[in-house]
Amino acid sequence: MNDLNHLAIIMDGNGRWAKKNKVPRTAGHYKGVEVLRNITIYANSLGIKCLTVYAFSTENWKRSIEEVSYIMSLPKIFFASYIKELMENNVRIMIIGDREKVPAETMKVIDQAIETTRNNTGLILNFAFNYGARDEIVRAARKYAEDYKAGLVDDLDEEKFASYLYTADLPEVDLLIRTGSEMRLSNFLLYQLAYSEFVVIDTLWPDFTSDILDECIAEYQSRKRNFGGRDETKSD
Ligand code: FPP
Repeated sequence: MNDLNHLAIIMDGNGRWAKKNKVPRTAGHYKGVEVLRNITIYANSLGIKCLTVYAFSTENWKRSIEEVSYIMSLPKIFFASYIKELMENNVRIMIIGDREKVPAETMKVIDQAIETTRNNTGLILNFAFNYGARDEIVRAARKYAEDYKAGLVDDLDEEKFASYLYTADLPEVDLLIRTGSEMRLSNFLLYQLAYSEFVVIDTLWPDFTSDILDECIAEYQSRKRNFGGRDETKSD
């Protein structure tokens, strides 16, 4: 049976869900926040150690000002509604991404949640917020070059490089789920997903449920992971 320590989710389809239900796109994101709350509590109850969710990408700034401002207000909505419950469930909040461009008010709310939950030892709910994997890799390379010049490090290997990424302290990603049927990574965790299993489903994020998560996990459990080695059970 495959361990599932770190689950990553590309929560796609809020816009299509809104269109399908004839409501504004923002209503799709709002429903997405409620679903994220449910999945966080459920994933924690399953003993999953880390849940990384793609909440806002470095490319999402291209959306309308209205939509971007609404997404920037989601952390406030999420934590105002659920911080008490997250504390009761021992959930710890983390964030990965470029915090510089995020409005100060939004960062303040996120930092408060990080601080409040700092000593919790249950599931880590890790928000990829203003996150882009290429940006992350370039930053890591830049920081390594600085440290090398300063004589703080010597040769580089895969493990050392990973320690320069935002995800340095997190376990390897075991499973990536993408809702909303698109077959692409959209600049998400390019380095970290090297040996992860992928499950892409048609369900739109606001329709995602704990039962569907169970199905995705069952699919993951049925996979044979060999990390690039040979699968001895195959005859060819
Ligand atoms: C993709 O759907 C979804 C997003 C860009 C935003 C996702 C954010 C949440 C679900 C909430 C995050 C919560 C917090 C607290 C920050 P889309 O709009 O691209 O959908 P479409 O592909 O159908 O248009």
